[in-house]
Amino acid sequence: MILCRTKNELQDALKAQGANPIIGFVPTMGALHEGHLSLVRQARRENEVVVASVFVNPIQFNNPEDLEKYPRDLDHDLSMLKEVGCDIVFAPDNAEMYPEKPTETYNFGSLETVMEGQFRPGHFNGVAIVVKRLFDLINPSSAYFGEKDFQQLAIIRALVEQKNLPVEIVGCPIVREKDDLAMSSRNVRLSDEDRRIAPQIYKVLRDGRDLIDVFAPQQLKSFMEDQFQKIPRTKLEYLEIVNAKTLQPIENWNDCPKRVACVAIWLGDVRLIDNVKI
Ligand code: PAJ
Repeated sequence: MILCRTKNELQDALKAQGANPIIGFVPTMGALHEGHLSLVRQARRENEVVVASVFVNPIQFNNPEDLEKYPRDLDHDLSMLKEVGCDIVFAPDNAEMYPEKPTETYNFGSLETVMEGQFRPGHFNGVAIVVKRLFDLINPSSAYFGEKDFQQLAIIRALVEQKNLPVEIVGCPIVREKDDLAMSSRNVRLSDEDRRIAPQIYKVLRDGRDLIDVFAPQQLKSFMEDQFQKIPRTKLEYLEIVNAKTLQPIENWNDCPKRVACVAIWLGDVRLIDNVKI
């Protein structure tokens, strides 16, 4: 496995793979866990060359404390990536990625005004900037993203369509801990007590999913909001039941066949997101 810290090193490593290999790419911010590794494993199965990036992208953090406390452990990440057969890791520093202040602006319309977009201003523009730059550097045939960040996946698909990029976006299922908490790099920041509480988040989502014959979407939303508010030490930021394509709230179950309930919730001082297909 080759570690590249600069764009030049990355270009050399890619050239050394031969002419026009089929490249699968997995962008990450490090602090890797089984969720990330599931993407790398899938990329390994489906491509000739697997590239992963590890870069804590400062411009997608709207909360300075979240950026400062974001877990970082490159050595551990590298050993995990090596184990699952990654070929090239691109781990640039901020100056390498952003020699000048980035100024690109993207417009994802109503995809970015709801949910995360509403509570994390500028977040998706920062994500789009870094992902577009990484795609331009790596030129992957396919790129792998987790459904854990359901809205991000929709934004990336829109980015690829808007810019006509020759990359296939592959959405991968959420990987959970044994107790069903969605894996996240931020989980290590939970206190022991909060870690014990955290699985209740998915429980509310799952129980809600089983109630679509009982409630209309708006009623189910209110019911689930009540359930979330009963979880100790939490503060609900949003719960939305949306059309999985447009991400707009749905009024009737019959209006769209693919629906997803998305939640963002604070547990102590850690913000967690999760979702379930309904
Ligand atoms: P990060 O949070 O490190 O996540 C990298 C990828 O792993 C994302 O596609 C995310 O959806 C996926 N992932 C995280 N937890 C997962 C889980 N439990 N199951 C399945 N997939 C999971 O998302 C980002 O980084 C950044 O925004 C990035 C795209 C790298 C741009 O900076």
